Amino acid sequence: MSSEGTTATPKLPQAPTRVLSGIQPTGRFHWGNYFGAIRQYIDLQTAGESYYFIADLHALTTVREPDRLRGLVHDAAVDLVALGLDPDRATLFVQSDVPEVTELTWLLMTVTPMGLLERCHAYKDKKTRGLPSDAGLFTYPVLMSADILAYDATVVPVGEDQVQHIEVCRDLAGTFNHLYGEVFTLPKPRLVEGGGRVPGTDGQKMSKSYENTLDVFEDLAAQKKKIMRITTDSRPMEEPKNPDDDHLFALYSLMAPEADRLKMADLYRRGGFGYGEVKKALVEASSQFFAEARSRRAALEADPERIESILAAGAERARAKARDVLDRARRACGLARDKAGKPAISGQPADKPSGKGGRA
Ligand code: TRP
Repeated sequence: MSSEGTTATPKLPQAPTRVLSGIQPTGRFHWGNYFGAIRQYIDLQTAGESYYFIADLHALTTVREPDRLRGLVHDAAVDLVALGLDPDRATLFVQSDVPEVTELTWLLMTVTPMGLLERCHAYKDKKTRGLPSDAGLFTYPVLMSADILAYDATVVPVGEDQVQHIEVCRDLAGTFNHLYGEVFTLPKPRLVEGGGRVPGTDGQKMSKSYENTLDVFEDLAAQKKKIMRITTDSRPMEEPKNPDDDHLFALYSLMAPEADRLKMADLYRRGGFGYGEVKKALVEASSQFFAEARSRRAALEADPERIESILAAGAERARAKARDVLDRARRACGLARDKAGKPAISGQPADKPSGKGGRA
């Protein structure tokens, strides 16, 4: 500690910020996904050490076609890098490339009360709707907890719907630590907001289930058609309009540079223009906004080895970290026979397993 003349109470060394988030590979990202979540996740890559993974094990609870799953994982990786996730700064990997996480899931499962999982919404919703569910869906939050704890993550950026799962994670980590000592770092959720404020082509929240999405990497001609068909109200051209309650303006605001946004707001208030003009401006602004990402995406697509080597390097870094944490957990609960966690070498045999018979 430095002895500089400060009156602040001395603080414990601050735990490093370690950001982690998992992204389900369920299809192409739309503007709602990007502005509501992905952009904010990517911004956090500068906050400290960061880990981002494509949650293919979680996707297995819904995607049952192997080729489709492979394609979705590849596309998600390409899209994330194209959108600015920097593999030199952040560790980008595929969840199933780190099998340590599934082992950790089991350890956590042994301290998970059934009741806790019964209250989790993904499972509960299916059950109330009378739909069949499997143990994968039921234990989904435990796998998610292992995802987070395996990397000692401190900050987990998630949407509102995932906050409950972070609470489960904290709960399980707390129980494990209580039983076996300080093994896990307790993470905090970081709520990312704004997803609800991205309207779709019909003015409702943009969502795949409403079929009102505009996709980030959609073909530009097809996207233009969709934009030109965005529903608008039928007020006459001359009438001044309040930009703040118009979904077309909301979309334009996400894409356009500030000066253009202000100019457009002015046009709305003055009246005397048609929505067609706003739509054309939106087509232009969105193609500008994503131009760089599009060209990065094209380059990545032309060089498939590149994304594979990014994912391989990411998996290696992620595994090294997860291995450490898993070793810690195994030792703490009595699975590792060598309490010091070092491999048994000649002359220094591992601690004898206690109890009769021992193990092979
Ligand atoms: N369940 C998350 C979702 O559907 C994805 C996810 C899996 C995740 N593991 C995670 C998010 C760990 C944050 C941390 O969005």
